[in-house]
Amino acid sequence: MLQQILELFSPEVRLAFGQVDQQLDTFSRLNSGCPERLREAIRYSLLAPGKRLRPLLVLAACDACGGLPSTALPAACAVEMIHTYSLVHDDLPAMDDDELRRGRPTCHIQFDEATAILAGDALIPLAFQVLAEGMATAEQARRAVLALALAAGATELVGGQVDDLGHQFGEPSLEILESIHLRKTAAMMAVSLKLGGLAAGAGDEALSALENYGKKLGLAFQIADDLLDLRGEQARIGKKTGKDEVRGKLTYPGILGVERSVALAGQLVEEARRELSGLGQRAAGLQQLAKFFVERTY
Ligand code: IPE
Ligand code: IPE
Ligand code: MG
Ligand code: MG
Ligand code: MG
Repeated sequence: MLQQILELFSPEVRLAFGQVDQQLDTFSRLNSGCPERLREAIRYSLLAPGKRLRPLLVLAACDACGGLPSTALPAACAVEMIHTYSLVHDDLPAMDDDELRRGRPTCHIQFDEATAILAGDALIPLAFQVLAEGMATAEQARRAVLALALAAGATELVGGQVDDLGHQFGEPSLEILESIHLRKTAAMMAVSLKLGGLAAGAGDEALSALENYGKKLGLAFQIADDLLDLRGEQARIGKKTGKDEVRGKLTYPGILGVERSVALAGQLVEEARRELSGLGQRAAGLQQLAKFFVERTY
């Protein structure tokens, strides 16, 4: 399905998307001072077969704003590095305690816990290094680094993960659940789009349209993730299913049931698509991609 959707993007987006893995490979070779086991763990997780959706959002947003997608490749790699670190840490015994990720043993199972923690740690500065070096101008780099720092930081990604683990709220409610999903997942989607827009030199209006689209899309994406945990096919999604309920996670199907969660995700996608109306035909690929985010089976 993703393959079909890719056809809807411009040849420039497809070309750049095809280079993401190779670029990740290049950026993660690291210099000779990096301990070998750390390098292996970083590359084991980063180069594993993820869907690369956040890089695609970066490249597609750049294209939709009239930029050349290949100029956004460093930003695309930077968001994938932050995303990968968040998965490596999310899987640790102290967090979700998962053993399967991207169809392979999780980083701490394949290596050991300390190495997984440190591999995740190392991916964070690497992301900012790649971003700071890769944006075309100093001002673009400044704005991009700031945006990624905010999205990955204590109030967004990390704060969402803290609340996901249940340390900060009492009675489960839809309000706190939405807030968790917006922070732990949607913030990284929104910033991916923003970085693509920044690489294209987009103005404030386009940037905020992309961000609003990203927030709705990200929320819908995490609802789909909750649904896949409940009723997805383990072999297809490459991670163990049925774990959220066992761990007592706050999820959309847990609170709303399957049917209403599916409906809400669909509604969010429609709302997300409407946010892009001002970008016109150039955003056609992103419009279609939104559907994949909820209809996906992996
Ligand atoms: C998994 O993200 C973590 C969530 C935010 C739900 P993805 O489903 O995009 O994972 P990969 O990158 O394809 O492995
Ligand atoms: C993870 O949410 C969000 C992250 C920031 C990593 P989940 O814990 O539901 O993601 P999976 O299901 O393990 O991929
Ligand atoms: Mg988690
Ligand atoms: Mg998890
Ligand atoms: Mg999940």
